[in-house]
Amino acid sequence: MDPQARRILVINGKGGCGKTTIATNLAVAYASAGHVVALMDNDPQASSSYWAEQRDPELPDVHLVEAHRRSSMYQTRSFQNRLPVNADRVIVDGHSNARDRDLELLLKQTDVVLVPLQPSSIDIQAGSRFITELVTHRAFRMAPRPLGVIANRVQPNTETHAKLQHFLACLDVPTVATFRDSPVYMEAAELGKGIIDMVDSRAARKEAPAWWELMKWIDAQPKNAEGRLRNSPRAADRRPAEDRSLTA
Ligand SMILES: Nc1ncnc2c1ncn2[C@@H]1O[C@H](COP(=O)(O)OP(=O)(O)OP(=O)(O)O)[C@@H](O)[C@H]1O
Ligand SMILES: [Mg+2]
Repeated sequence: MDPQARRILVINGKGGCGKTTIATNLAVAYASAGHVVALMDNDPQASSSYWAEQRDPELPDVHLVEAHRRSSMYQTRSFQNRLPVNADRVIVDGHSNARDRDLELLLKQTDVVLVPLQPSSIDIQAGSRFITELVTHRAFRMAPRPLGVIANRVQPNTETHAKLQHFLACLDVPTVATFRDSPVYMEAAELGKGIIDMVDSRAARKEAPAWWELMKWIDAQPKNAEGRLRNSPRAADRRPAEDRSLTA
């Protein structure tokens, strides 16, 4: 792996919020921009692996790593070694049940964390619980990483969207992208594509700028947050300020 590689974890304890959709589409967006991309499938459901099987080899390359097959720390390392040596973007499709030690192992290999959130009340409630769990996790508190929420499956100008916006505004975590609820995501997934590959689709072209913006935000985040923050006096003092807004 390129020493300057960015490792991006897409995770939420709530199933079906769009982790695989975000991970695969982000992988495609980076690959289309010329990056060497590894997509690590951390979920035993193996949805990203299935997606990669459908992908046409003529499309920009996304190198799949089936990390969900690991069963020990030793194997985690060997999977790490199986990344392409020049991979400069590693995107991890996390699974909904990653907690405690599993979450710690994932966080240790992560530079940036993305949490997809859907607008329904149930998703908001479960998502807020998960974010609280994440930012109060020992591994995160020792070395906080840049963390962004992604509003996914949004139907603009609806009451549900307004509710989500209100919740996100109260959250002490930035909303770094908003993706529409569009059938083009499912169409792309079935073909092993990302919407950036769907050049003939008007709906996909409409969504594309949001993906470039997300990449811009990720790339602007400091690399090696762990080392940088461990040495920072603020890191030791830092209490999860997020607790206040999340549990309110
Ligand atoms: N923005 C979107 N617009 C329309 N459909 C979407 C969007 N995002 C995700 N979906 C659809 O929602 C379903 C669940 O998405 P996805 O599989 O990405 O969620 P997940 O969080 O990975 O689920 P799991 O917890 O089971 O791994 C899929 O059918 C996917 O195509
Ligand atoms: Mg999934």
